[in-house]
Amino acid sequence: MTTAASQTAELLELERQYCSFGDTVHYLEPPKVFVNCEGSYLYDEEGTPYLDLQMWYSAASFGYKNPRLSAALKNQIDRLPQLACQYLHAEKVEVAARIAQYCEKRFGVKGRVHFNVGGSQAIEDSLKIVRNYTGRNLMFAFTGGYHGRTLGASAITSSYRYRRRYGHFGDRGQFIHYPYCFRCPYGLKRESCDIYCQDQFARLFDSEYYSVWDPKAEACEYGAFYIEAVQGTGGYVIPPREYFQRLRGTCDRHKILIVDDEIQMGFYRTGTFWAVENLGINPDVIVFGKALTNGLNPISGLWAREDLITPELFPPGSTHSTFSANTLGTAVALETLRMLGEEDYGKIVNEKGAYFLARLRELQQRHPKAIGQVDGIGLALRIEVCREDGFTPDRELTDRIFAEGLKGDLEAGGRPFGLVLDVGGYFKNVFTLSPSFTITREETDLAIDLLDQLFTRCVAARN
Ligand SMILES: Cc1ncc(COP(=O)(O)O)c(C=O)c1O
Repeated sequence: MTTAASQTAELLELERQYCSFGDTVHYLEPPKVFVNCEGSYLYDEEGTPYLDLQMWYSAASFGYKNPRLSAALKNQIDRLPQLACQYLHAEKVEVAARIAQYCEKRFGVKGRVHFNVGGSQAIEDSLKIVRNYTGRNLMFAFTGGYHGRTLGASAITSSYRYRRRYGHFGDRGQFIHYPYCFRCPYGLKRESCDIYCQDQFARLFDSEYYSVWDPKAEACEYGAFYIEAVQGTGGYVIPPREYFQRLRGTCDRHKILIVDDEIQMGFYRTGTFWAVENLGINPDVIVFGKALTNGLNPISGLWAREDLITPELFPPGSTHSTFSANTLGTAVALETLRMLGEEDYGKIVNEKGAYFLARLRELQQRHPKAIGQVDGIGLALRIEVCREDGFTPDRELTDRIFAEGLKGDLEAGGRPFGLVLDVGGYFKNVFTLSPSFTITREETDLAIDLLDQLFTRCVAARN
């Protein structure tokens, strides 16, 4: 064994003994160790590059070790690396102002920003905002939706697997079918369905006996509808625009707020600053995280319409976390927002995404018995892995391709490569691709070449 390989073996042994298995590391056996990163690549202990098509679940949109963002972090380390969040510093205020001003321009309403650390924590804060404003603690959310793993976020996340071992969730969301047209829950076709699924939701309000609405009091038992404009963990499912326009109408008529979870899709992943802009509706609350700091010191937060978050309604101390709005995070966030404002990321992301999607379509043609669907919006792309019939989910093949990519024994231009993929979807048969915004045409071509090698290898081994 090489020294590097024996060091990795020792590390894995220590990990087996002392690390909890409760996170997602052991989705792969043995877990994968990386020692370096740059741009669109991760590197293992042998120096083998792995082209990363998931970029930390869309957190590192500007690529690893982005020089400008690293410099912003280093400057802040030398200037104001620590500050309790009860005191103010300039970057926090500037980040909040930029986000609020953007929303005001885009949605025509003034609002305010509240920071936290991780995405799930910001979701918790948004639940407080909704409860405080509406006096209601129940929420609608979508099947296939994912809002995080704290208890509050798990309650509105549809997957029962995430809740099963943790007792009763009194505030469990009421889950409504997401418009996932490739796998329409009603078995309909988009060309002729007239958004039947939205009608089904709207009809819940026809009678008090459908359990959500009291027509006499004109009161709904649910405070907000939590949406993802493009589902992330659910498999980068891209919905029809009309669905959400009708949803907005139904929610308005019944005084239900719309909370838009942009944690995975925000900051241009889909070619617009917020993914919800693709749907032509205005949300009441937006929750964000991940890409705001490109995977460096995390900060998350929410934007809420002014009347939901006035200082009178949401006074000092309403919610708090020690590391929220930490100075290292806000410094990077401010630089991220500057970068997003300096170039036309709508154009950049859409052009790169269109090229990637066209190449994915070619890949699908080469592997019609393994790829049921490819789709994309901006640089949020999906490959749905299916059995020979092009529809039945093939989770086994998906897992095999994922694991083979991480072996680092693919080949391109006479050198070894690996491929980093992320698996999502209702049936865990979707590769959710969120490549770096810095990805080049050559790297996209390399991605297709490596995917082609993986599909060829793993389909041949199918039983
Ligand atoms: C849409 C969405 N909401 C919430 C979360 C939870 O964020 P975090 O993992 O930072 O707690 C995620 C994470 O993947 C997400 O994709």
